[in-house]
Amino acid sequence: MADIQLISTSSVKAASHKECSTHDQRIELTPWDLPLLLLGPIQKGLLFPKPKTTQEIREYSSESSIIQHLRTSLSRTLDFFNPLAGRLVSIQNEDNTTSYFIDCDNAGAQFVQAIANGVVTIADILEPIYVPDRLVHSFFPLNGVLNCEGTSKPLLGVQVTELVDGIFIVCTLNHAVADGTSFWHFFNSCFTPLSLKERIFHFTKEKSAELKTKANAEIGMTNRVSSLQAILTHCWRSVIRTQNLDPNQKVYFNLLIGARTRLHPPLPENYFGNAVYGGTVTVKAGDLLEGGLGHAAWEMNKMVALHTNEKARSFLESWVESPRLFTAGSVVRNASSTSSSPRFNVYGNDFGWGRPVAVRNGAANRTHRKITVFPMAEGGIDIEACLSLETLEAMGNDSEFMDVVTSN
Ligand SMILES: *[C@@H]1O[C@H](CO)[C@@H](O)[C@H](O)[C@H]1NC(C)=O
Ligand SMILES: *[C@@H]1O[C@H](CO)[C@@H](O)[C@H](O)[C@H]1NC(C)=O
Ligand SMILES: *[C@@H]1O[C@H](CO)[C@@H](O)[C@H](O)[C@H]1NC(C)=O
Ligand SMILES: *[C@@H]1O[C@H](CO)[C@@H](O)[C@H](O)[C@H]1NC(C)=O
Repeated sequence: MADIQLISTSSVKAASHKECSTHDQRIELTPWDLPLLLLGPIQKGLLFPKPKTTQEIREYSSESSIIQHLRTSLSRTLDFFNPLAGRLVSIQNEDNTTSYFIDCDNAGAQFVQAIANGVVTIADILEPIYVPDRLVHSFFPLNGVLNCEGTSKPLLGVQVTELVDGIFIVCTLNHAVADGTSFWHFFNSCFTPLSLKERIFHFTKEKSAELKTKANAEIGMTNRVSSLQAILTHCWRSVIRTQNLDPNQKVYFNLLIGARTRLHPPLPENYFGNAVYGGTVTVKAGDLLEGGLGHAAWEMNKMVALHTNEKARSFLESWVESPRLFTAGSVVRNASSTSSSPRFNVYGNDFGWGRPVAVRNGAANRTHRKITVFPMAEGGIDIEACLSLETLEAMGNDSEFMDVVTSN
């Protein structure tokens, strides 16, 4: 189609493919998959209007930032759907039959950026009585490829085509590898992080103390649960409240355990390097919401308290025995996670023209449900929550959460 101009075609790989793990590299196809080898792929695409509100325009002020978002998002999503970044392998057996399997070798998916040459509008696609097939089909990558050709062609192609007033995002997915249910599971996983946003919630000294007192009172204690544990639980409960989960579903919270003061003897005050590791609190969604602030805060407290000198040392020993690196795929999915600490000296910097007024995160390792903790400039604790726009908005509507929060 003359109206469509290809800007670029590239290969996108899973962000943190584990090069050395081979045990899950080969995936066999089933009798549901194999009959589809001689057919074509699944090809579906969604037409979106271009951003309209000022907020959206500010966020996606250029097409290239949308494309960059989609590419990054695709790469991260492939971590969870790594067969889609692989290839089919066919083997000729001695009895002259052929076997097929998926090799999750991270050879890469195809990513195509195209522009409809400034002439095609949403109306050109939606208004004709008969679907303008030549035009619509030109929005799809890997046209004419059979599923069995997945031995050399990508199993997944994504094409993003810019129209005058819209954006067409399509996926071509090898049908011997996935059906419609899996296709939409993938599509929706891939293109929802798009709206990841950060929002700052301030907990003043007074409100922090209030939450701490409340959490301790609920479990019949006076001073066991810390302000930070009470605040993190308060945030966690609001995030989960907005999700309407099955009460029996397990939810997770990753906390950072500082090793510096846990070791006997403690590390020297100026020890330079890393001395933190992670610990996870697991509760049922129902218990988190119905157990008040005290229940989960107490679980956090108990988990942290388990990390004695011995436990901190055994972490080092067991890591050496079975080393593992953090990857986007290894982080417990659905877990909320903390980073930073209210104890960091953030506002002590004064270069001679006054103290800083605020601190913010960069984009590195910006992940869904990441909760960054900072001291407030005026005392108290700031939380920077990184969540979907919908969840942040629902938290803003959650009066139990907002009652103790000062927010913009
Ligand atoms: C496989 O095919 C070859 C060549 O067509 C033939 O010579 C051979 O007998 C076949 N083997 C079996 C096990 O059918
Ligand atoms: C962390 O961020 C870097 C880029 O800053 C990225 O390459 C890496 O995949 C991210 N890791 C995780 C676990 O999100
Ligand atoms: C994650 O949460 C979603 C709902 O928010 C749920 O459907 C899914 O099963 C959860 N996954 C895990 C691994 O708990
Ligand atoms: C938050 O409240 C506003 C105003 O009542 C409403 O329009 C919006 O849909 C709510 N958002 C969520 C995610 O609950």
